[in-house]
This record gives sequence, structure tokens and C-alpha cells, in this order.
Amino acid sequence: MAWSLQALPELSEAQFEQWSKLLEERTGIQLASRQRPFLQTQIAMRMREVGYEDYGRYFDEVVSGEQSVMEWSRLVDQLVVKETSFFRHRPSIEYVRDLLQERINNQDLSRSFDVWSVGCATGEEPYSLAMVINDCFELAALDPYYGITATDISLLALGQARQGDYTVRKLEQLKPQERQRYFRETEGGHYRIDAALRDRLCFSQGNILQITDMPVAKMDVIFCQNLLVYFRRWRRRELLNAFVERLKPGGVLVIGLGEVVDWEHQYAQRVRDKNIQAYIRSRAD
Ligand SMILES: C[S@@+](CC[C@H](N)C(=O)[O-])C[C@H]1O[C@@H](n2cnc3c(N)ncnc32)[C@H](O)[C@@H]1O
Repeated sequence: MAWSLQALPELSEAQFEQWSKLLEERTGIQLASRQRPFLQTQIAMRMREVGYEDYGRYFDEVVSGEQSVMEWSRLVDQLVVKETSFFRHRPSIEYVRDLLQERINNQDLSRSFDVWSVGCATGEEPYSLAMVINDCFELAALDPYYGITATDISLLALGQARQGDYTVRKLEQLKPQERQRYFRETEGGHYRIDAALRDRLCFSQGNILQITDMPVAKMDVIFCQNLLVYFRRWRRRELLNAFVERLKPGGVLVIGLGEVVDWEHQYAQRVRDKNIQAYIRSRAD
């Protein structure tokens, strides 16, 4: 029987340990033992593509083979959860609108308004941020001076993000006026994000575990949702501390509601709004 038609080889407990340890060491993502079938399916699919039949041999290829860097990158594309949507958590995105609007009203804008979307997946999150920021500048008839850095570990996701091309289903979360303003229909029922908006975004690959190597300037907003949940609690706290370091005074860190419960920072104060989880960096420290 051809390999492609055979049943998936069983991933033993020991093999699951070996693979999940590698995944956590390299990405921070922690898998529970009930996720063994998921890991097995994803690894086996990739093994099929590259012609491996044995988890051990493929492990050696991924860790020390000639193409190990490339192969790891391809496998990661398959192992990470890239689920996302436009305005996935609208109150958090609207909070960024309110923050910028307040700064515009108080004439409290610095040279530029800099935003970092961490774990941006296929781009819906940073594009949603770009829409509200652009709205604010347009409303105030100001030259829109902002930049959004959007990083992710998955090259596949980033490729899609850069294209900014989405199916009509992907646009369901958007209000009609958002669709009209920021998308144009292309062939095959797809919608492409407005080029001017896309030019505001800089997508680049970045593993958040290597945050100290990331050349990101100080930010007005760091937006990180649905990524920390995959990490151990100590790692979440360490990353939050590192994010605070990268905020401008008065900058804000926005995470997913309930993603971290036991974290405090001497320079970060939680925003009093029970619908979001955001922290403001103190202006003087
Ligand atoms: C579930 S998606 C969340 C997307 C978006 N932030 C949202 O909330 O809709 C998680 C993203 O985090 C990325 N990711 C996972 N581990 C990462 C790491 N160590 N460094 C950077 N990105 C990572 C994945 O590739 C994936 O695109």
C-alpha cells in the first residue's frame, strides 16, 4: 500500500514527550498530553510531504539534518494555531481608538504613533488596528503618522498577511463602512486590503522567545492576544515584563482578557475597564 494511504503511525508517549519538549523549548508553546493526536497528525502530515516514515528519523532531520532550519520553519507553520479574525476582540481594538483619539484631542502626540502586534498570524489583528488608527487621523484631518510592526513565528502566516487578501467570509466581523473604506473586491470573490493601509504595516518574522534580539523601537501600543495562553505562567510574566520595557512612557499593553491573572509591574497600571485587559506604562520612572 502506498505510504500516503497508510494509517498514521502511532506517536508513542515517549515520542510525544520528545516532540513536545522540542516545541516548547523553541516556541514556548506547551502541549497537554490530550493533544497527542493533534501533534501526531501534524507531524505525520509533514513527514508524508517530505517522505519520512519514522518519527525518530524525522526528529533527527529537524534537529540536526542539513535542512534543519528550513524544515523546522515548515513544521512550525503546521504546529501553531493561526486562528484569528478582524476585530476579534472589538473592545480591545476600540480601546486603542479611544486612546489615540484622546491624545489627538489633548494634542499629546509624539513624533509618531507606534504599534506592535505580537503574534499577528495572517494579519487581521494589525489591519484592524490600522483601520481604527487611520479613522482617527482622518477624522482629525491630520497627516496619519503611524507605523505598525507585526511579528509572528510562522512564515506561512506572514506571507498571507503581507498579501492582505481575504475571502468574503473573513470580512464577516467587519461593519459595512469598514469593508467599504478599507477593502476592494478582487477576482474570485476575494477582498484586498487598501494599499495605503497596507503600506503602514511592516510584517516580519520573530520568535517572541527571542524578544531581546528583536530590534523594535519603543511603542505606544503593544497588542498581544491569544498567544500568551499557550505559554507557561512564568513565561507569560517574563514576557509581560519585557513588553513593559518596550513601551514609551504612557504607552499601553493590551492582552487578551483573563490571559494573565497574577502579574503586576511597578511601572504598569491596569486600565479600569472590565471589558479589556490593558496596562498603561507610567510616564515617569
Ligand atoms: C491564535 S493566533 C493569534 C492571532 C492574533 N493575535 C489574534 O488574537 O487573533 C497565535 C499566533 O501566535 C504565533 N506564535 C506562536 N508561537 C509564537 C512565538 N514563539 N513567537 C511568535 N509568534 C508565535 C502563531 O504562529 C500564531 O499566528
